[in-house]
Amino acid sequence: MARIALVTGGTRGIGAAISVALKAAGREVVASYAGNDAAAEAFHAETGIATLKFDAGDFAACKDAVDRIHAAHGAIEILVNNAGITRDAVMAKMTRELWDAVIDTNLGSCFNLCKLTFDAMRAKKFGRIVNVGSINGQAGQYGQVNYAAAKSGIHGFTKALAQEGARFGITVNAIAPGYVDTDMVRAVPEDVLQKIISRIPMGRLGRADDIARGVVFLTADDADFVTGATISINGGQHMY
Ligand code: CAA
Repeated sequence: MARIALVTGGTRGIGAAISVALKAAGREVVASYAGNDAAAEAFHAETGIATLKFDAGDFAACKDAVDRIHAAHGAIEILVNNAGITRDAVMAKMTRELWDAVIDTNLGSCFNLCKLTFDAMRAKKFGRIVNVGSINGQAGQYGQVNYAAAKSGIHGFTKALAQEGARFGITVNAIAPGYVDTDMVRAVPEDVLQKIISRIPMGRLGRADDIARGVVFLTADDADFVTGATISINGGQHMY
């Protein structure tokens, strides 16, 4: 029986590449999305991967979605918390709404879905959780106090939950992507983006597949001794 994987934000950008790579690795994948029906339909038509619409930042919506996946496919054994948004603004222009939106979607979603899937993983004595952090959670980024806080929070969350999961065969790891060629990064003002690329030793933006390969590695059955790790995939832009 194929293991069941849920990839949040799994129909576009990095998440779509992760969904496709996990399917190619023999997983039964459900890709969730929050709003873009047209993109989700096109993704499903192209890949055959099941999609499910719900807001990963909303606990009640997550509970309903997890119940539905468990009923239709079986217990989720691989969880990739990839859903994320940006609402960039300097502090002077940052509002409480922009703060809450990013914290709820990017960090709250990790709590919601780990909370709702952990018991079943524990019962099976198997689980693979990968949380998608960011270089900007490691290094900070001008105009992103909300996003950097959420992503940095993901890195701490990962290390804490990894300690709890270890004795149940559940690994919890993070990937910290650098700047990857997706709609999110293309929204950065062109002059700012060019400056960022000039500081990437590899001289290019990342590709979604670069990140997906890391997720396949971390979710493999035999990756059972890797937990609490953060793998940076950023072309050398930030090393520590
Ligand atoms: N360091 C220092 N100063 C900076 C700066 C930086 N990185 N970026 C901008 N500034 C300065 C500008 O030069 C400008 O100074 P002056 O007024 O003296 O000219 C001042 O800050 C205001 O800059 P803007 O005119 O750009 O102000 P704005 O309010 O229009 O926009 C901003 C501010 C929203 C932060 C905009 O600069 C921006 O979008 N920057 C990109 C932020 C970014 O990299 N986001 C990452 C998105 S992708 C992602 O998050 C994925 C991932 O995980 C990697």
